[in-house]
Amino acid sequence: MLNGHTALVTGAAQGIGRAAAEELSAQGADLVLVDRNERKVQETADSLKEKGGSVRTLALDLTDLDLVGERIGRLADEMLIDILVNNAGFDRPGTTRRIDTEDLDAVLTIHVKAPFLLIKLLLPAMRTAGWGRIINVSSIYGLTGAKGEVAYSTAKAAVIGLTKAVAKEAGDAGVTVNAVMPGLTLTPTIERFMADKYKQQIVDVTPLARAGEPQEIAKVIAFLASHDASFITAAAIPVSGGWAA
Ligand SMILES: NC(=O)c1ccc[n+]([C@@H]2O[C@H](COP(=O)([O-])OP(=O)(O)OC[C@H]3O[C@@H](n4cnc5c(N)ncnc54)[C@H](O)[C@@H]3O)[C@@H](O)[C@H]2O)c1
Repeated sequence: MLNGHTALVTGAAQGIGRAAAEELSAQGADLVLVDRNERKVQETADSLKEKGGSVRTLALDLTDLDLVGERIGRLADEMLIDILVNNAGFDRPGTTRRIDTEDLDAVLTIHVKAPFLLIKLLLPAMRTAGWGRIINVSSIYGLTGAKGEVAYSTAKAAVIGLTKAVAKEAGDAGVTVNAVMPGLTLTPTIERFMADKYKQQIVDVTPLARAGEPQEIAKVIAFLASHDASFITAAAIPVSGGWAA
């Protein structure tokens, strides 16, 4: 159980982030939910509070790094956040012909720079406390690369590098740092924007022959946050139904 711990989850308004917030709250963690979608992150918080969870929200665009530094820096001065789930993300699909360096920069900012900054802001207090958990959400595409996903694949590979480097830096303080690499997961964004034929192409090469549910990723995130995962660090775990694993 995670009673007495506080988890900050980014991108908690929907999808994998929301499911992770639900799992962590069910394990007894207090929560700080961060998302740019103020209305929906409040909905997540309200539903968790109804079940007895202790939750606060922060409506924030994580690509505004100055604002992140200011707001999360202030929060870190006020309270100990000892679990960090870097989950928020978006995609700018395209091959090198279609997208430009601005697209690449945007994708690197949300998936790599914002997580890096959050780690930089929250790790010192975890070190002092002698316990902490950092879970970064990468992707199977960070392992394999994907045609038409050049920025996203690059960013998600960098998430794995970030995870492994920080794990080495933080291990002596009892802080574990791991990544999950989801396969195709049926979140609202995927349901709405990914054409069925592309989903089917992935399902066809997935040994479990289906897409995942957000809860199936969230359970692994919550496990990595738990005391049971005390000897796991620097791992990048595929949660993909066997796809590319
Ligand atoms: N769904 C999949 O198939 C899949 C597969 C592999 C990896 N992932 C990764 O899992 C994570 C969650 O994906 P999802 O499918 O649940 O996404 P989603 O689009 O359903 O939810 C993402 C959440 O992040 C928030 N967000 C996006 N940009 C933000 C910003 N700039 N500032 C603050 N909040 C922001 C959104 O408002 C949203 O609530 C992402 O990092 C994604 O890359 C998803």
